[in-house]
This record gives sequence, C-alpha cells and structure tokens, in this order.
Amino acid sequence: MSSACHEFSRYAAEYGSRNVIQRLVAKKLIASTPNQPKQIVDLGCGNGTLYSLIDWEVEHFVGIDFSAQMLEHHPLSPNVELILGDFNDPALFETLSAECFEHIYSASALQWADDLESVLKSLASLNTPISLAIFTSGTFKTLHECAGVTPLLRSSDEVIAMAEKYMDARFEVLHTTLEFDSVREMFRYIKRSGVSGGRRVLNYAQTKQLMEFYPLNYLEFEVLFILKS
Ligand SMILES: C[S@@+](CC[C@H](N)C(=O)[O-])C[C@H]1O[C@@H](n2cnc3c(N)ncnc32)[C@H](O)[C@@H]1O
Repeated sequence: MSSACHEFSRYAAEYGSRNVIQRLVAKKLIASTPNQPKQIVDLGCGNGTLYSLIDWEVEHFVGIDFSAQMLEHHPLSPNVELILGDFNDPALFETLSAECFEHIYSASALQWADDLESVLKSLASLNTPISLAIFTSGTFKTLHECAGVTPLLRSSDEVIAMAEKYMDARFEVLHTTLEFDSVREMFRYIKRSGVSGGRRVLNYAQTKQLMEFYPLNYLEFEVLFILKS
C-alpha cells in the first residue's frame, strides 16, 4: 500500500465530517455539468461525495478508488459499481475505454497522480466530456511561505499547460479559505482531511514554529477546474 493510500484509508471513517472543501468542490463540478449524464465515472470517488450530490437519475455510476476503506463508505445501489483501482495504472483506462460513458468526473483526487500528464492524456483519449477538480500549489500558500517550504502540489499554470496539450477545455481557478478556532485544530485538519495525501507537509520543528507564528486563522485552498464538453 502506498503512503498516500495508507493515509486516506486510516482516516476513511472520519473523512465525511472533515471534507468541507471537497464538498464545495464536488458541488461546483456538478453545477458545471450542462446536461444530466446517466453513465458516469468518478475517479478517486472516495466515500461518494460526488455521487451523493447528483440529484438526477443515473443508470450506471462507476466509482473508482484505490482505498478499499474509502469505498466501504460509498453509498451502494443497483446502479452503482465500485472498482478498487489505481488511476496511476494505465490499464485502468484501457478497461474504461471498453465501455461507453457520458461523463467522467474527478473531484479533489488527481493532484495525487504520479504522472498527471499521462492521466490527462489517457482521459482525453476516452473522448468523453470531462469535469476535473485538482488541488494546486496555492493550497496552504501562507503556511508554505511561513515555513519556507516548497508546495508539494503542481501550480495551476503547470497543470493547464499539460491539459492543453491533449484537450480543448475550459479552465477555472477557485480560491477559497477555511477558518479554524485554533492553530492546533488547523494542523489536525491538515493531517486528517486527506488534503496532504499522506505526504508529510512539515517536519516537527517547522510545525512547532508555525503554531507560534502562523499569521492567519484560516487555511487557503486553490483548486483548478478542467471542464471539457
Ligand atoms: C481528498 S479524497 C476525495 C474523495 C472524493 N472524490 C471527494 O470529492 O470527496 C481523494 C481520494 O482519491 C483517492 N486516490 C488518491 N490517489 C488515488 C489513486 N492513485 N487511484 C485511485 N484513487 C486515488 C483517495 O483514496 C481518496 O479517496
């Protein structure tokens, strides 16, 4: 099990109560879908945030995630198929190409792709409308600046440049914040929300220093939306 998968699995049960930003992101993805697709794929579906926000009838919903524990919390229904799969594995896209889908979503997951460019290329080759939301480097901006660490995530410009090679899409960058009562709570959130994807954002000394000097009572998030009809 990779460290990212382990982290998502460890906090799978409480993920639902901590995913305020991911909910907002999934809502925006749904709102940006012009029609009401009935054959859907959700890459990195987790506990089903996206599925539970769909308010139209769906014939076939395929949720894919590499964490069995996250899938355990996904709503079940006869039209829902859950696949334990890894979007870093090109074979997954071969499997998907054998079926017809009307829309492919991915909410708050693809920032953890090992080779995002390959994933975008594979997605484009499926010739299906796509709505993706990918966290980018402006996430935790002040925190990174304060601690003097380089962001783990790719910049929105970098991801747009990659996507433009393979698809004619619309791009939107969302900036939002989440307030906390204390810095301690903020750090607990970073650890447990899945935003850090199992990668250690800060070491012990950096965390201690930030707890004293972080100037804000909120965290910043930056999410790139890639919308291809
Ligand atoms: C932050 S959660 C988002 C979950 C859900 N899409 C949502 O909007 O709430 C990221 C999800 O991506 C999954 N994930 C991360 N890397 C993955 C990979 N390589 N293949 C499949 N799923 C992955 C994690 O297990 C986790 O469920």
